[in-house]
Amino acid sequence: MLYRSITATAALALAASTSSLAVDIPRAIAQDLTQFEAQALIPEPIDSDYLDLSSALVLAFGSTNVTTGQRFEFPADTSALATAPTFQLDVPASMASQYAAMNFTAMIVDPGAYGQTMGGSNVTRHYLANDLRLSNGRLTNSTPAITSYAEPGPAAGTGAHRYMALVFAQESGFEAPDGFTTQMGVSTMELADYVDDADNLGHIVAMTYIMVENTADGTATVSSSTAVPSSSVAAAESSIASSLSLSTSMTSAASGASSSAAGASSTAASSGAVGAAAAFGGKSAVMAAVLGMASVAVGAWAL
Ligand SMILES: *[C@@H]1O[C@H](CO)[C@@H](O)[C@H](O)[C@H]1NC(C)=O
Ligand SMILES: *[C@@H]1O[C@H](CO)[C@@H](O)[C@H](O)[C@H]1NC(C)=O
Ligand SMILES: *[C@@H]1O[C@H](CO)[C@@H](O)[C@H](O)[C@H]1NC(C)=O
Repeated sequence: MLYRSITATAALALAASTSSLAVDIPRAIAQDLTQFEAQALIPEPIDSDYLDLSSALVLAFGSTNVTTGQRFEFPADTSALATAPTFQLDVPASMASQYAAMNFTAMIVDPGAYGQTMGGSNVTRHYLANDLRLSNGRLTNSTPAITSYAEPGPAAGTGAHRYMALVFAQESGFEAPDGFTTQMGVSTMELADYVDDADNLGHIVAMTYIMVENTADGTATVSSSTAVPSSSVAAAESSIASSLSLSTSMTSAASGASSSAAGASSTAASSGAVGAAAAFGGKSAVMAAVLGMASVAVGAWAL
């Protein structure tokens, strides 16, 4: 793996353009981040070091957009999720050219219901594709998917499963891990192993999830609410808006202040991408700070 930020090559000036965007990207990212944390999807299976969110992901099933954390009940809603979703990315205008030049890895993986995960970073893979390109705001395949989309199929009585959709940036020279280069069906895998064993896999730049519960046997939901206090979202949004507009020098300063993030990226730095690694440290520190902020509030929310 290589932790290098998609934002490493450009100083961004998002703040000025935010108000005119149809989609409030910092707010959408803040909601994604705080809801993932409220669902205890961070730090496992999603290590916060993986995160450098800079765009908003909206899945569309058919022509229907779904919102982060939206609930589906099977069997009533089965047909709604039957066909592969479209991955739509709302990208800050200041980053459009970087996104246009980038390949992406996308996946949909299920670690189980809240409080009932399969352990560690163990997830069931329902979709995995590499070398996706962003075209007209949508990810499109240039090569066959490794795992073609397989609709959710949670067992009755196992709670509301969280199907996470993750979009990773691929750096040049990306190589999928051994065993993940040819087509394969749905199976379990360790997300951490995939990230560690891939060459030049970048950060998660966008993510969302939906909840799917099989209520065929009449069992009541065992999962807790995903509600996050609006103050947490607002605080996260403010930090994310500034992080998306960090100048290069501010990024370097932030990286110096973040010992654990900088430590985590030191192996990437040894590959020679010193400037990029410094930027990574800065961005990671922002994500970590946002997560720390959210966890205080979320912890008080008594999930
Ligand atoms: C669905 O979401 C995308 C991405 O935000 C947006 O461009 C599109 O207009 C939305 N479609 C509908 C029908 O709301
Ligand atoms: C992942 O979870 C599945 C289903 O519970 C289990 O069969 C498998 O052994 C687990 N894998 C690891 C590496 O823990
Ligand atoms: C993107 O993927 C295609 C198809 O595998 C490959 O030919 C191309 O070199 C990749 N581009 C980048 C920037 O990695």
